[in-house]
Amino acid sequence: MRTQVGIVGAGPAGLFLSLLLQREGIESVVVEMHSRKYVEERIRAGVLEQGTVDLMHKLGVGERLKLQGLEHGGIELRFGGRGHRIDFRELTNGKCVTIYAQHEVIKDLIAARLAAGRPIIFAAEDVSVHNLEGASPEIHFRANGISEKLECDFIAGCDGFHGICRPSIPAAALRIFDRDYPFGWLGILAQAPPSSHELIYAYHERGFALLSMRSPEISRLYLQCAPDENIANWADERIWKELHKRLETTDGWNLKEGPVIQKGVTGMRSFVTEPMQFGKLFLAGDAAHIVPPTGAKGLNLAVADVVQRFSWWMTSLLHRFASDNPFDERRQLAELDYVTSSRAAAQTLAENYVGLPME
Ligand code: APR
Ligand code: PHB
Repeated sequence: MRTQVGIVGAGPAGLFLSLLLQREGIESVVVEMHSRKYVEERIRAGVLEQGTVDLMHKLGVGERLKLQGLEHGGIELRFGGRGHRIDFRELTNGKCVTIYAQHEVIKDLIAARLAAGRPIIFAAEDVSVHNLEGASPEIHFRANGISEKLECDFIAGCDGFHGICRPSIPAAALRIFDRDYPFGWLGILAQAPPSSHELIYAYHERGFALLSMRSPEISRLYLQCAPDENIANWADERIWKELHKRLETTDGWNLKEGPVIQKGVTGMRSFVTEPMQFGKLFLAGDAAHIVPPTGAKGLNLAVADVVQRFSWWMTSLLHRFASDNPFDERRQLAELDYVTSSRAAAQTLAENYVGLPME
């Protein structure tokens, strides 16, 4: 087999790339280790920047997004028992973000690619990349038990943080810049109408909490936890109790509960490789960089590389660190006060959150 660009991974990075190349008349083959069902159902991120939404429309894959996406013109920062709205539309000349689950984006991109008769090889086994510095690099894999060699002009490593492309680059050719955070997020998906029509980012002495959503019927909620938190210690009842405490306001705001349909712990990390290219292999998305989820950037970053600093800043602003002393706590609260009372500071948050220009 031969193609112009061999793409490893059918996540947002690999699939957006395949459609962008197709638009330019460039052939590609996508090689994905999981089944179509698995990648279309895996629960991941859910906040799309304006630029990501615009790109989906430009690529002709925005039809369901238009019908089902929830436009959000702001977020709430909650601390000291009170909410403070950051008005994106007002602060960024009318821009907003759109809530639309990553696996729905994946469904739309896969459908468009297959409708155009372009190949995606699902459930590929033993995927490896070779001859990266030669004229014709290769992707090797097994599909339906048969060993295949795909010769390419270029390879795009879009296989996520745990993929095989980045580790195929000699260690001496890469520099890694990273930061580990001393906490993780315990996330749940609940069959409950969202208790707020916009996202709530709460700073609390017991730790950070986030109220998000996937649809008018499904809430997505997170709690700051230990990085190695054992989910078995968190019965649904304990999770709700903790969410109530961290999201509580002095004016009696009410958190709506419902059956928990999924739960898990996610680690937090900032990570960038430099360079993101070796010979004819180019890394994109999580394979090249990871951001902590606080700024809601991971998916958008797979579309356009921007926002390490912002995601680090928003994480540091809203979480409790074990090393925190009363000085740090007052400093965080002073910063939250500043962000919610100064137009200039609120505008900085708003324009980063809705997305800086891609070009
Ligand atoms: N061979 C083939 N495919 C692979 C391999 C491999 N060895 N290893 C991983 N993959 C596939 C995964 O199954 C997945 O479908 O590569 C894809 C990578 O997709 P993502 O992890 O979604 O990464 P990316 O496309 O960079 O998107 C980043 O995903 O989870 C979010 O927060 C993250 O929103 C961000 C976005
Ligand atoms: C989510 O809905 O999963 C979500 C929302 C905002 C974030 C992170 C995750 O910052």
